[in-house]
Amino acid sequence: MEIKYQLKPAAERRQEQFRPEGNVGFGRLRTDHMFLMDYYDGEWRDPRIVPYGPFSVAPGAVALHYGQSIFEGAKAFMHQDGEIYTFRTNKNAERLNRSADILCIPYLPEEMQLQAINALIDADRLWFPMQEGACLYIRPFIFATEDRLSVSPSTSYTFCVVLSPSGAYYGANLSPISLLISTHYHRAAPGGTGASKASGNYAASLRAGRAAKEVGAAQVLYLDNNNVYIEEAGAMNHFHILKDGTVVIPEFTDTILRSITSQSIIELATELGYPVRQEMVRLDDFVKGVESGEIIEAGGFGTAAVVSPVGSYIFEDGRRITVGNGQVGEHVKHIYQVYTEIQKGLRPAPAGWLH
Ligand code: COI
Repeated sequence: MEIKYQLKPAAERRQEQFRPEGNVGFGRLRTDHMFLMDYYDGEWRDPRIVPYGPFSVAPGAVALHYGQSIFEGAKAFMHQDGEIYTFRTNKNAERLNRSADILCIPYLPEEMQLQAINALIDADRLWFPMQEGACLYIRPFIFATEDRLSVSPSTSYTFCVVLSPSGAYYGANLSPISLLISTHYHRAAPGGTGASKASGNYAASLRAGRAAKEVGAAQVLYLDNNNVYIEEAGAMNHFHILKDGTVVIPEFTDTILRSITSQSIIELATELGYPVRQEMVRLDDFVKGVESGEIIEAGGFGTAAVVSPVGSYIFEDGRRITVGNGQVGEHVKHIYQVYTEIQKGLRPAPAGWLH
């Protein structure tokens, strides 16, 4: 794929390494450029890097009306050699295509996605935030552009990648959050789009998120449609840890997003020094486990949040249960440390994880 460059004039581009003061926040900042590529007449065309800015979209574009739109979230880190390394972006590229399949969006070869991400990072490398714990958050997305009001897959699309110099998603790293256990709102249904990163899944989660905030929780703990099994923790996969250190992640059904962080933690079981397993997790068993002390820690795994400990769960009737002593546990600290050290190149990474 040959990428065309239309770069901002040098005088308007970042000239030296970005050294932000204070917390850079998550997803607020953008770099100078973005990557764009269009799909029409059955092919992906015109790969280009252009100055970051608004693009024109037809008011009748299918994405705006019917939500035919998907995205990914990945990260790049700076290592001690001064180079920027992307973390498992091949997994994101695979997952984007899985989402594309679910949303009837054309396949976008993974190699093209990786080339787009790498070229954009290369162009905007001086935007890498030189701050402890910060990274470049990578946001690839595809949206349907055909100007047509009938409901069927668009015949044209845009693939775009933007970068955001970012810090921790939930503010200061590793502060425990609360989750509202929702039997009222559900994120996904069997046979639906829950296993994809469809933009609409996130729009549909806003109301539940608002209900969570109203009771002082950061997010919702989603259950399956029969309110029997635990599914996800807001925009993260849920996990809990048993007294013997076993990490339990709900099985990836078609109502759960296959978190790359979860998959990585599963692959790192040996490195972590304790078992990691997936199974269907019943809410009633989970609550009993927390109350009896069999479950000592819990949290969420996600690219943006990395590992987010959960200190307590709030039921819709106002009752609360606290996990362990409600503080960040030793295992979560350990997982966080091992995982982030691998990302930052301070510990050997499994082959192929960093590029
Ligand atoms: C991520 O973890 O990268 C996500 O996509 C969650 C996001 C909606 C902030």
